[in-house]
Amino acid sequence: MTATCIMPIYGTRPEAIKMAPIIRALRADADFDCPVTVTGQHREMLDQVNELFGIVPDHDLDIFRPRQTLNGVLTRTVEGLDELFSDVRPDAVVVQGDTTTTTAAAMAAFYAGVPVVHAEAGLRSFDLFSPFPEEANRRMTTQITSLHLAPTAQSKRNLLREAVDETQIAVTGNTVIDALLTVAEQRVPFSDPQLEQAADSGRDVLLVTTHRRENQGRAMQGVGRALAQLASRYPEKLIVLPAHRNPVVREAILPALQGLDNVVVTEPLPYGEFTRLMDLATVVLTDSGGVQEEAPSLGKPVLVMRSNTERPEAVDAGTVRLIGTDEHRVVAEVARLFDDPEAYRAMAHAVNPYGDGQAARRTVAAVRALFGMGRREPDFAPDVELPASTS
Ligand code: UD1
Ligand code: UDP
Repeated sequence: MTATCIMPIYGTRPEAIKMAPIIRALRADADFDCPVTVTGQHREMLDQVNELFGIVPDHDLDIFRPRQTLNGVLTRTVEGLDELFSDVRPDAVVVQGDTTTTTAAAMAAFYAGVPVVHAEAGLRSFDLFSPFPEEANRRMTTQITSLHLAPTAQSKRNLLREAVDETQIAVTGNTVIDALLTVAEQRVPFSDPQLEQAADSGRDVLLVTTHRRENQGRAMQGVGRALAQLASRYPEKLIVLPAHRNPVVREAILPALQGLDNVVVTEPLPYGEFTRLMDLATVVLTDSGGVQEEAPSLGKPVLVMRSNTERPEAVDAGTVRLIGTDEHRVVAEVARLFDDPEAYRAMAHAVNPYGDGQAARRTVAAVRALFGMGRREPDFAPDVELPASTS
């Protein structure tokens, strides 16, 4: 009997991190053939993750262009996949999350008559324009998906509210926790000596990441000024910013940080180093989606520079706080956590609403069931039931 061909397709750093456990689990199942396809929407940041997990893509559309546009990413992905599908005809594709690669790949597969499996389905901020374009990408992908892998009960409820058939939804947990648990065991050394020194010194670290499109420009400039203020107010603490490769991000945030000796700006860190840095950080300040999922499971308070989130579970659990991007508010919220031990303690407790490290196993079981090769596993449920306010 020939193996069922399941093609994972992804293009950016976070998709690569979250797809790696799925690829590993699919490859461990002899009933599946799993030709890994990358669009190359990201280049260095994607290759860095594939290298870490030992994944060599079978197909690389190599669509990356410096300062690429969303429409450029969309059209080059659809064109590249259209050609690929005439050569390699998968039985299903797996897409992950909410990037332009995700939606473009889902569209290309749908038009070619190939069923779409969507990992991390059902996240909703309920604001079409924030995050942009991710909220729209998620909603569009949902419309053309055959199997929805919701990470949490909340994301399943979002899908049900949109009239998705319940039989097409499996609650798996988020594979980001599978990935995090795999690399966290490795305790890799930092390649930047300043970070190794920070680890040895036991200095408090404020870890910062930012890249969201809706924050680019003025808001991000304000965040840069807020970081400069924090650096001078807390000279004994260290601010570490692994800078996204997007030049638009760097042009906005870096000028305010020039010449500050307690601010360390690095290139994007390999995932193992980044997770170690999250683990030693005192406070995490971010607009990232993935970091909102990972840092709570490491017991770190997370201040999110956004006005809404599609990941309400850790907000409800009290470890994530939405603070927006106002310069003064950013300074005040970080200062509160540095200066008020009670406020810090209230946020610094480990919670795992997003997964238990078994999401890839549940994913493969759900894909097997889609092809009549077995039964799904029971839905993921976190140890602690979350407040009903998320429903
Ligand atoms: C993309 C996703 C976003 C995700 C983010 C993860 C879309 C619309 N956005 O945003 O959902 O949160 O990835 O980081 O899909 N660049 C490099 N090298 C790289 C990667 C990026 O130089 O390896 C630069 C390029 O100039 C590129 C720019 O960054 O034009 C932006 O990259 P792009 O993939 O278009 O969007 P992101 O903001 O990274
Ligand atoms: N990350 C990393 N190195 C870094 C910064 C982030 O490996 O220097 C990881 C982080 O742990 C998370 C993912 O990248 O798993 C998040 O990527 P990003 O913030 O770019 O995208 P988002 O999650 O917002 O889509």
